Amino acid sequence: MENFVVAIDGPAGSGKSTIAKIIANRYNFIYLDTGAMYRMVAYYFIENNIDLKDEKNIQKLIENIELDVENNKFFLNGEDVSEKIRTPKVNSIVSSVSAIKKIRIKLVEQQRKIGFNKKIILDGRDIGTVVFPNADIKIFLIASPEERANRRYKEYIEKGIKEDYQKVFEDIKKRDYLDSTREESPLVKANDAIEIDTSSMTIDEVVENISKYIDKKFDNPNIYVGKINL
Ligand code: CDP
Repeated sequence: MENFVVAIDGPAGSGKSTIAKIIANRYNFIYLDTGAMYRMVAYYFIENNIDLKDEKNIQKLIENIELDVENNKFFLNGEDVSEKIRTPKVNSIVSSVSAIKKIRIKLVEQQRKIGFNKKIILDGRDIGTVVFPNADIKIFLIASPEERANRRYKEYIEKGIKEDYQKVFEDIKKRDYLDSTREESPLVKANDAIEIDTSSMTIDEVVENISKYIDKKFDNPNIYVGKINL
């Protein structure tokens, strides 16, 4: 098979990137974390004190900003910002940045270029609905807000980032709200996506579950996997 697209969408902290990385390794797919691209733009806004409502500056920014992804490292105008984009500060504005239409147009175009004719797994909010509506497999990962906040809180502790659990929880709820109610490509489950609630599943269980769908589709490219009885 020449090209194969797996789209993983879902709300903040539902486990998308953890799962996508493992699947990418297992099947030798490219992995693209599209959230990291929106995070890079949000980081640029913070570093350059750009007002979110400043239309003119946003147009200039779009022309001047260069985003590169190499081996899961993220480069903003040549600088490796992979760590710097995963802070509470970036979290606090990224949903407002990603709601800006001009920014989405630029990033979606780049995502489609990266994915063109490849075996690839992408995670985000609009992969199965907008970026690759014809993806071979569409997964919609969900988990309770409490569980998602727990996961994010643990990640921060591991990285030595100090943040209150309550604040993490509020951030997740706020981003859920902004991402699902925005006008441009809101976070919604595609009609043909397979929903998996990961609240009480281990990472391995989620990976095995998704792998079964991928294997079925490899065996029989014409079937709609959402209907398969596993
Ligand atoms: O890892 P986490 O789930 O916290 O978020 P992320 O995937 O890194 O995405 C960060 C933010 O980028 C989201 O809250 C969305 O506002 C935005 N995003 C988007 O609008 N579309 C995408 N395809 C991916 C992310």
